Amino acid sequence: MSSDVTVVILAAGQGTRMKSRMAKVLHRAGGRALLEHAIVAAKGVAPPERIFVVVGHQAGAVREVAQAAGVQTFEQREQLGTGHAVLCGESVLCGLGGRMVVTVGDCPLIRAETLKTLVERQGESKAAAVVLTAEVPDSTGYGRIIRNRDGVVQAIVEHKAATDAQRAVKEINSGIYCFDSAEFWRHIREIGTDNPAQEYYLTDMIEILNRAGLLVTATKISDPGELLGINDRVQLAEADRILRDRKTREVMLAGVTIERPETVTIDPDVRIGMDTIIGPFARITGKTVIGEDCRVGACAILHEAVLGDGAEVFAFSMVSDSKLGTNAHAGPYARLRMGADMAAGAHVGNFVELKNTRMGAGSKSMHLAYLGDSQLGAKVNVGAGTITCNYDGKRKHATVIGDGVFVGSNSTLVAPLAIEDGAYIGAGSVITDDVPESALALGRARQVVKRDWKRKES
Ligand code: UD1
Ligand code: CA
Repeated sequence: MSSDVTVVILAAGQGTRMKSRMAKVLHRAGGRALLEHAIVAAKGVAPPERIFVVVGHQAGAVREVAQAAGVQTFEQREQLGTGHAVLCGESVLCGLGGRMVVTVGDCPLIRAETLKTLVERQGESKAAAVVLTAEVPDSTGYGRIIRNRDGVVQAIVEHKAATDAQRAVKEINSGIYCFDSAEFWRHIREIGTDNPAQEYYLTDMIEILNRAGLLVTATKISDPGELLGINDRVQLAEADRILRDRKTREVMLAGVTIERPETVTIDPDVRIGMDTIIGPFARITGKTVIGEDCRVGACAILHEAVLGDGAEVFAFSMVSDSKLGTNAHAGPYARLRMGADMAAGAHVGNFVELKNTRMGAGSKSMHLAYLGDSQLGAKVNVGAGTITCNYDGKRKHATVIGDGVFVGSNSTLVAPLAIEDGAYIGAGSVITDDVPESALALGRARQVVKRDWKRKES
């Protein structure tokens, strides 16, 4: 990263074709807002204090995303064109010197490496401007790169203003440039609005710098796919698919098996250890961290989860803001949420919900249970159908269960409640009072057997 590089990210437009109440750059693809992708790429070439997002449409919400990422903003109140957008930052940008990269907020596939190459080209050539270009089969709508007979870049002509001969040019402007800041600010006021859209076109700078006798060059991008700009929700879905594909490839190349990777969603900040196996349609989001030799079953959903080595989340389970220790198992059809924490070797089975509950090492709850606001010691066995009644209609109460406790099936544990080490709860009990160590608690009606009852009736 060079400390003399400034990046300006144009993000003031509305994005009408999204047909949305939300500004285009706030829409998400690949687990991030479009603008966040642009910021991540920018951070590859400039320090955060030299990255500026131009905000305009929904300035407040867009600024929040920029600030959360630690970068700067300035406002373009009226969207009078891409040249005008940069000009709005004159007071903060002009004094920075060095090089200035201008990029856009709606091209989420651009890689940091690509911006680095652009900056390097400027460094080698000392050009006043280097334009990032691409050869595309259909150049409709893009600005065309106009070169002279010697191949020297002369100008960029916008589609609307281009002649038929110019429209035939397949080399297009990406909308991404690296300028020599001093030359840029010396000449920016020469741009006007003499074009069909009557906008201040940033692209006019190419001809202006040429006219001033300065060197202007272009560098062609190796993968034109990176330039996919998002204008509508079909392109948003396409960008999402490509970004998800990049992440699953990265994860697989780092030693993780993914079955049917095209169906799996993994957010960019997720980390997964070697020899873990991910099933089809899994969705792993937020800052989830998965250890080595884990298994994530088909259709499992993990959000902000932490899995120790060897942990397994079976099919159709949901784990959010929760932890599974080494070799802990959950599911199929388990739900862990709000700080559930399973120690090493703990198991929960189908239709078990843990909310804000800690299970000690080796404890088990294999079927149909709700454990909320609870602390379970080690080697506890929770029978099928057990419910902690943690809510009295006003407040939540805790259930504390000691080591080696056996809770019989279909028990109702009315909190606040403490069940001490080694205690037994008879099946079907409603437990309202604390149970001392090693005691047996029965909280149910004694069975009554009336002999020959049916015969007497008739
Ligand atoms: C622009 C280029 C075109 C290039 C294309 C690549 C110009 C004049 N044209 O055209 O040569 O081929 O990008 O995709 O620059 N924006 C502002 N404020 C404004 C206007 C735009 O912030 O006043 C932002 C938009 O939010 C967007 C970006 O600038 O993120 C590009 O603007 P857009 O109107 O999409 O330009 P294009 O017509 O695509
Ligand atoms: Ca555009």
